[in-house]
Amino acid sequence: MKIDIITLFPHMFDGVFEESILKRAITSRKVEINFYNFRDDSKDPHHKVDDTPYGGGAGMVLMAQPIFDCVEKLRTEQSKVILLTPSGIVYKQKVAYDLSKEKHLILICGHYEGFDERIRTLADMEVSIGDYVLTGGEIPAMVLVDSITRLLPGVINERSHIEDSFNENYLLDYPTYTKPRNFKGMKVPEVLISGDHKKIEEFRYQESVKRTKERRPDLWNK
Ligand code: ADE
Repeated sequence: MKIDIITLFPHMFDGVFEESILKRAITSRKVEINFYNFRDDSKDPHHKVDDTPYGGGAGMVLMAQPIFDCVEKLRTEQSKVILLTPSGIVYKQKVAYDLSKEKHLILICGHYEGFDERIRTLADMEVSIGDYVLTGGEIPAMVLVDSITRLLPGVINERSHIEDSFNENYLLDYPTYTKPRNFKGMKVPEVLISGDHKKIEEFRYQESVKRTKERRPDLWNK
């Protein structure tokens, strides 16, 4: 998969994709990630990318031209263009699964106080990572890249994402433990040491159900 990220602040991403699973996914070419600073596409002599809003109001608004030109040079028939904005659909694991099947994603990071409404016409989809407002779309773009990349074939053990919280079953993860068996008086449940795989599976399922009912009745009711 190829992911192009359109942002005024490519350095915000420094480090994020240079460790651990994402780094491995990039070096093994499971995913290719490129950054485009749309300031480079501005036709303004001073490379301006924002201006005051028509009708007045506080703050500056991202202009349509630089982002249009940037998207248009990257977009092909296979591209899916996603605008990160608090007014998009709320991001869920199901959306990550669907997007992990795409060949080419173009992520547009808005910034400042807002963007020219006409930029929305570029997007195949608008995504919000939750009901709160961030300073821009960069952190949401990182969230999408991380959650999508781990679902690409060969990036992590596929069993891990079948068992993820928020998969199609809408159950939270069951508790897991590692050595030692007794840590500060907190003991690993006996069943996990029993070697009885059927019992272990049943225990995990029941714990997932219990945790989901307690913590996320909204998911359980689905
Ligand atoms: N930009 C600012 N806040 C955002 C959010 N919650 N989701 C996506 N993009 C954003």
